[in-house]
Amino acid sequence: MRTRSTARTVIAALAGVLLAGGMVACGNSDTGGGSGGDDKIVLGFSQVGAESGWRTANTTSIKEAAGEAGIELKFDDAQQKQENQIKAIRNFIQQKVDVIAFSPVVESGWDTVLKEAKDAKIPVILTDRAVDSADKSLYKTFLGSDFKKEGRLAGEWLVEQKKSASGPVNIVELQGTTGSAPANDRKEGFAGAIAANPNLKIIASQSGDFTRAGGKQVMEQFLKANPKIDVLFAHNDDMGLGALEAITAAGKVPGKDITIITVDAVKDGMQALADGKFNFIAECSPLLGPQLMDLVKKVKAGEEVPARIETEETTFTQEQAKEALPNRKY
Ligand code: AHR
Repeated sequence: MRTRSTARTVIAALAGVLLAGGMVACGNSDTGGGSGGDDKIVLGFSQVGAESGWRTANTTSIKEAAGEAGIELKFDDAQQKQENQIKAIRNFIQQKVDVIAFSPVVESGWDTVLKEAKDAKIPVILTDRAVDSADKSLYKTFLGSDFKKEGRLAGEWLVEQKKSASGPVNIVELQGTTGSAPANDRKEGFAGAIAANPNLKIIASQSGDFTRAGGKQVMEQFLKANPKIDVLFAHNDDMGLGALEAITAAGKVPGKDITIITVDAVKDGMQALADGKFNFIAECSPLLGPQLMDLVKKVKAGEEVPARIETEETTFTQEQAKEALPNRKY
């Protein structure tokens, strides 16, 4: 009895193995060029790095959304280096992924690698940041914020706050990564918004690379070189948070002696705003994962997608931050 039941178990196990093998083999031949080994769409995603709270939230959103959408994600962290992103994209092409998405660390210099993806018939989606390629056929769509608008909203708020200021208002600016779309566009949007007010002057502007350490270090230099700083415009919360340390160490009160405006509205930034250390934040949402996965499915299916999809965003004052903080997810 025992021998017969053991034999039955062995046969059933063997059948299971053969069946599973057959299924994988079928799946392989059905992937249409993807490298997933089953029917899953394979997405190669090249992330900028882990430079800020925003970036961490963005990575989490993308990983979670891929899991929920049943998409196999090949994730690469470029550590804020364009050459790493180009290498990652070439790897994805070699692996014959179904779709490539990436958040370009800088705007220029992508044409060659994008052409390689196009020649390999792998659709590309830009997410978060844009490229300046003249040939728009090199990518399917761009999903992300209007960075110029964020800079403009920050500038408009400042103009309103300082409308009855009698003397000059000295502004220092902490720029994001040099050559990146958010740094270029936020700078332009802000400068445009304050342009008609000659008493609002940007007296110093330098990159802090979107990091806390960079924000602190550059703010220290600004404070040493400029005895009168009235306003700080930081292109993201993290640089603003780093600058807070420099401002406090210089014996000044952030949010009072120096008005601080930032972009992002991640939790730490919102906390600083609610605590009165920041004065205004223009939101930039990192929660792009679900929309990205939707687009991945559509471009893989050969469906038309809009050339530009803009993220919905708002702005926060100190009072609004206090209200929003308890429900802030990132
Ligand atoms: O591209 C989005 C920007 O990149 C965010 O504002 C900043 O925090 C991040 O590093």
